[in-house]
Amino acid sequence: MNLSRMGIFTRSTGSRKPNESMRSIVTTFVGVFFGFLVGVSFPTLSLTKFSLSSDVLTTIDFKYTEYTKSSLSSPTPLQHLLGNNSSVNATSKKIWVPSNPRGAERLPPGIVRAETDLYLRRLWGKPNEDLTSTPKYLVTFTVGYNQRKNIDAAVKKFSGNFTILLFHYDGRTTEWDEFDWSKEAIHVSVRRQTKWWYAKRFLHPDIVAPYDYIFIWDEDLGVEHFNAEKYIKLVRKHGLEISQPGLEPRKGLTWQMTKRRGDREVHKETEEKPGRCNHPHVPPCAAFVEIMAPVFSRDAWRCVWHMIQNDLVHGWGLDFALRKCVEPAHEKIGVIDAQWIVHQSVPSLGSQGESENGKAPWKGVKERCKKEWSLFQTRFSRAEKAYFKSLNNTSH
Ligand SMILES: *[C@@H]1O[C@H](CO)[C@@H](O)[C@H](O)[C@H]1NC(C)=O
Ligand SMILES: *[C@@H]1O[C@H](CO)[C@@H](O)[C@H](O)[C@H]1NC(C)=O
Ligand SMILES: *[C@@H]1O[C@H](CO)[C@@H](O)[C@H](O)[C@H]1NC(C)=O
Ligand SMILES: *[C@@H]1O[C@H](CO)[C@@H](O)[C@H](O)[C@H]1NC(C)=O
Ligand SMILES: *[C@@H]1O[C@H](CO)[C@@H](O)[C@H](O)[C@H]1NC(C)=O
Repeated sequence: MNLSRMGIFTRSTGSRKPNESMRSIVTTFVGVFFGFLVGVSFPTLSLTKFSLSSDVLTTIDFKYTEYTKSSLSSPTPLQHLLGNNSSVNATSKKIWVPSNPRGAERLPPGIVRAETDLYLRRLWGKPNEDLTSTPKYLVTFTVGYNQRKNIDAAVKKFSGNFTILLFHYDGRTTEWDEFDWSKEAIHVSVRRQTKWWYAKRFLHPDIVAPYDYIFIWDEDLGVEHFNAEKYIKLVRKHGLEISQPGLEPRKGLTWQMTKRRGDREVHKETEEKPGRCNHPHVPPCAAFVEIMAPVFSRDAWRCVWHMIQNDLVHGWGLDFALRKCVEPAHEKIGVIDAQWIVHQSVPSLGSQGESENGKAPWKGVKERCKKEWSLFQTRFSRAEKAYFKSLNNTSH
């Protein structure tokens, strides 16, 4: 198993002193209890510095109460605000809409907004004029400040049709403002977490719903021969729901499938070493991409997100299970050869580990990766068995 293939060991951070590690743990721990230490910052808008005066809120609240209780003869200011046909008059009628999202059944469907987006808005002007463009794609990078040059180069390969979202694992966010694009990007800062941890928490399918494609990428990818718009054109052309760019064949690539082929645009199947594949249509011979630079369609991501386990943060084994999310997998999962990347394998998430029993930190991380892989496999096969068993039971 090549550790760097998941991009987990590829973060460069200097080794930590034990004291520092300890402090870091405590901080993280405290952070989890007191609201996650999540700094979501929208640099162009200082939202946190603006708050509605509580006076305004209580006034509205009071009038609402008054209005619902009093006769409807004289319109209150709130009535003017809401319009005369507002549902306030319908308080005696109960609303119950089973087709609404769970928990929102009491709301009239017309007001329910079950999905959202990551578009930045202004604090002024007309809401429907806020957006000068609506990005159709999302790209996320899980980053440390040390990799800024690489990320800067990568971001430049993504057009204005992309929302840029950075997950910071080292707590450094404002420094990124040396890049102009950073001021329009979305920064999520939680220390020492993995790409899949962030993806599970911040990329819920209902949050990224407007994006046709979602790139969930590591920070150590060389993008000299990559153009995101051209990549998406090929993805559409070949009907790929899950894809990745070909990897420049350099030493140490683990899987044949993700190696770039110089003679074609796309490939969906490969030959592996004898014994690796049970069938030409299953991983790692087909229906397979790695998890360092995957690209998901909206529908595929809706499925894959649900498969990510909250506690299995390294995502090992996910690549072998992606095929469960699309049908037929060997046609809808593939590698784009014409737009390719270089995996630079900067060794490192290992150094984000903790030294235990005198072992080097990276060893503990590697062991956990492997353990997670087998846990994931076990959970998956148990879940499948339970499902099929339940089918048998109900049919009797
Ligand atoms: C109120 O309802 C009437 C008839 O149902 C409709 O013609 C009118 O446009 C509505 N007004 C508002 C502000 O919704
Ligand atoms: C509601 O009706 C009142 C008269 O009953 C009218 O003065 C007011 O402008 C109406 N408000 C709206 C939003 O239509
Ligand atoms: C309020 O509801 C009642 C009963 O449903 C209806 O008769 C009345 O016209 C409604 N008033 C307004 C202002 O919509
Ligand atoms: C953004 O997407 C639109 C529609 O697909 C396309 O016409 C345009 O060229 C894209 N922008 C860039 C910079 O490629
Ligand atoms: C379900 O039932 C079929 C035949 O009745 C049997 O062959 C199969 O093994 C059963 N599956 C499970 C998961 O129990």
